[in-house]
Amino acid sequence: MSDPATGPKKLFIKTYGCQMNVYDSERMAEAMGAEGYVTTDVADDADMVLLNTCHIREKASEKLYSDLGRLRALKAVRPGLKVGVAGCVAQAEGDEILRRSPVVDLVVGPQSYHRLPQMVAAGGRQVDTEFPLEDKFSALPARKVTRGPSAFLTVQEGCDKFCAFCVVPYTRGAEVSRPAARLLDEARGLVAQGVREITLLGQNVNAYHGAGPDGAWGLARLLRELARVEGLERLRYTTSHPNDMEDDLIAAHGDLPELMPYLHLPVQSGSDRILKAMNRKHTAEAYLRLVERVRAARPDILLSSDFIVGFPGETDGDFQDTLGLIRAVGYGAAFSFKYSARPGTPAAEKPPVPAEVADERLQQVQALITSQQRDCQEAMVGREVTVLYEKPGRMPGQMVGKSDHLHAVHVQDEAGRIGQLVRVRVTASSSNSLAAVPLHTDK
Ligand code: SAH
Ligand code: SF4
Ligand code: F3S
Repeated sequence: MSDPATGPKKLFIKTYGCQMNVYDSERMAEAMGAEGYVTTDVADDADMVLLNTCHIREKASEKLYSDLGRLRALKAVRPGLKVGVAGCVAQAEGDEILRRSPVVDLVVGPQSYHRLPQMVAAGGRQVDTEFPLEDKFSALPARKVTRGPSAFLTVQEGCDKFCAFCVVPYTRGAEVSRPAARLLDEARGLVAQGVREITLLGQNVNAYHGAGPDGAWGLARLLRELARVEGLERLRYTTSHPNDMEDDLIAAHGDLPELMPYLHLPVQSGSDRILKAMNRKHTAEAYLRLVERVRAARPDILLSSDFIVGFPGETDGDFQDTLGLIRAVGYGAAFSFKYSARPGTPAAEKPPVPAEVADERLQQVQALITSQQRDCQEAMVGREVTVLYEKPGRMPGQMVGKSDHLHAVHVQDEAGRIGQLVRVRVTASSSNSLAAVPLHTDK
């Protein structure tokens, strides 16, 4: 609770990893806010530091221990400082973190962070990495923290797919969908706070099958109902699995104007042999056919993907198949990673590809993706697009936002306000963004 002599307690949160961690960090801030904590951007002033961690690759999880090293020095000068570790490393390593790092007071997993206030109140060193029966979301306070006109909304969590390389099914648990009515309420609440764009989140978001008033709703139905919420102008969702792209979801891309023309559809590899070893349960050909169907529904859709290079057993031929698939699809954006063996996953048992081979492949795949991304951005120059202003730019009179295709756009617009949707003409493309001017200034 807040002390009248010193003011409210301050909470510093550092977020690693995926968008769901960003969402979870906001929810943890709200849960602690109900206990009188306010968030700060400066770790040095904090009464509590929370590290919301990611376990997906070795590099991501190692960041935790280097940050904890730094916090040791801070705790030496601020003995009352509480240090909490949340997120996927917390789930994977549990009380091992307390053993390794005396600086840590609390370890809380992604499914139990609604209990954080009780843990803090109880004092002492504690670990909670259960998958509790009660619904975390119902136990959390109503949403108050919104950062601008674009918000995340978790609709589904967990994964039952067990790709051979991936820790997510272990750290996030089995697939669970939130009830549709709660999501519609949460969305309306966000819109009442000025949100105009919502990105639905799930580790397998298109496997969504939440309880609706008339039976289970799939993601397509949920999107259709959200599109009817007054004031909610844009919808997106991420991340999808190719095997869960149902016909009604593809159709929604054709006939829901609120559903933005961008789809992140990770394929990981273009080689059937490697896809099989990864336990992806689809072929490269099936993925290409899916891409065709999505493009038939929404011809201008921008596609993005994730790729892993150097998966155990990947030959040069397999890697060429990946490059071939990328050329065949033509992505507007994509992420590529060097395979990282994760403890407890089946692929970690297999002999690795030599590091220098994987490095070389990563460079090649990144060069190809970068050139496709550049072509896609350059094709926007001269076109009219709509931008949702999210924040002021670095230059005076400049606004920054995202286009329908999720390009970052810098717009010279002296009269621009955060939260406006503005038609602009793209004038130039640079490495990571577009420049544009407003089409009309009569606002
Ligand atoms: N739920 C999402 C992705 C989660 S992780 C999905 O199914 O697509 C995001 C990306 O990290 C994955 O798509 C994959 O490309 C990459 N990734 C996951 N595990 C990895 C590992 N062990 N090594 C390297 N990259 C990995
Ligand atoms: Fe991981 Fe595969 Fe599940 Fe995605 S679908 S979260 S890559 S196991
Ligand atoms: Fe990382 Fe966990 Fe997200 S491992 S990518 S924070 S689901």
